[in-house]
Amino acid sequence: MSILVTGGAGYIGSHTVIELIEAGYDVLIADNFYNSSPKVIDRLQQITGKSVQFCLCDVCDEKQVDNLFSRHKDIDCVIHFAAYKAVGESVEKPLEYYSNNIGGAMCILRAMKKHGVKNFVFSSSATVYGQPEKIPCDESCPAGSATNPYGWTKVMQEQILRDICAADKEMNVAILRYFNPIGAHPSGLIGEDPNGIPNNLLPYVAQAAIGKFDSVRVFGDDYPTADGTGVRDYIHVVDLAKGHVAAVRKLYTNCGIVTYNLGTGKGYSVFQVIEAFEKACGKKLKRSILPRRAGDIAENYADPSKAKAELGWQAQYDINDMCRDAWNWQSKNPNGYKE
Ligand code: UD1
Repeated sequence: MSILVTGGAGYIGSHTVIELIEAGYDVLIADNFYNSSPKVIDRLQQITGKSVQFCLCDVCDEKQVDNLFSRHKDIDCVIHFAAYKAVGESVEKPLEYYSNNIGGAMCILRAMKKHGVKNFVFSSSATVYGQPEKIPCDESCPAGSATNPYGWTKVMQEQILRDICAADKEMNVAILRYFNPIGAHPSGLIGEDPNGIPNNLLPYVAQAAIGKFDSVRVFGDDYPTADGTGVRDYIHVVDLAKGHVAAVRKLYTNCGIVTYNLGTGKGYSVFQVIEAFEKACGKKLKRSILPRRAGDIAENYADPSKAKAELGWQAQYDINDMCRDAWNWQSKNPNGYKE
C-alpha cells in the first residue's frame, strides 16, 4: 500500500510527505518542479532518515501519469497538491489555470479509475466560501462564490469530485479546505519559497525581516476589525500536514465523500501577525499602509470542530510557533532553495 503525493516537493506537499512517512506510510512523490526545487527531495531524506521515492511527472500528461500508475501497482491513495496557486496570476492567465488545475486533476482521476484506485485527498481552500455567510465559517456555509479563476478551479473541482462520488460508491474523497498555511518544519530544512515578490502576507513579512524589503505592506487599515487590518486563520503547515494524515485514515474507513475545514479557529490581524513575527526575529519591522487589495475580505476564520469530531485532528501550534519556525527557515535559507 502506498500513497501517491502529487506536488510532493511543494510547500504543503513536502510537509505532508514527512508526516505520512513518520506515520508509517509508504510514499511516492510525483512532481515536475514547476514551482518547487529538486533539493526538497534531499532535504526530506535528511529529515526522515529514509530514502524518499520520487517520480518526475507532469500531472497534465496522460501518458506519464498512466505509466506511473502502471509501474506502481501498490498505489491505493492519492493526495493531489500539484496545482497553480497565485490568485493575481490566475486573473491574468485564466486559461492556464483552468487547464493546469482542472486538467491535472482530471488526468489523475482518469488514471485512478483505470487502475482501480479509490482514495483521493483534494487540496481545496477557504477561498471557496468567498465572502463567508457566517464567521467562524463551518462546512455548511455556501461554498461556490469564488472571486478569481484560481478560486473557481477549487470550486469546480469540488463539484467534479461530488459528481464522481455520486456515480461510484466505492470512491472515497476528502476535500480539505485550507485556511492560511504559514510556518515551516522546525528543522528549518524545508519551508515556503515563493518565486518573485510574495503575494501572501507571511513570506512578505519574513523577507522584509531578512532585509529584502524595507517595510511590510499592509493592505488596508480601515476594515471593520479591531485594529482595522484584515483578519485570517493562520495555521502551522505542520498541523495542516497532520490533517492530511488524519484524512487518509478516514478514507480507509470507506467514508465516501467528506469535507473538512483545516484551520485553528482563531483569527489574527495583519498587525498581530507582524507583532508576532517581530518577537520571533527580534527586530522591529517598518510598516507601509497601502489601500485595500482588490478582492480581499475583512475577516475569515474557521470553525474547525467537524475535523476535530470526525478526524480526531486539531491544530496544536499557535501564532508564535508559526512565526518562530517561519523565521528559522527564512534566516537559515535567505534565498529559499536557490543558491
Ligand atoms: C490568499 C488568497 C487565497 C489563497 C491563499 C493561499 C487572495 C485574495 N486570496 O488568501 O485565495 O487560498 O492566499 O494561501 O489573494 N496582506 C497584507 N500585506 C501583504 C499581503 C497580504 O497586508 O503583503 C494582508 C491581506 O490583505 C489579508 C492578509 O494579509 O488581510 C492575508 O493575506 P494573504 O496571505 O495574501 O492570504 P489571503 O488573502 O487570506
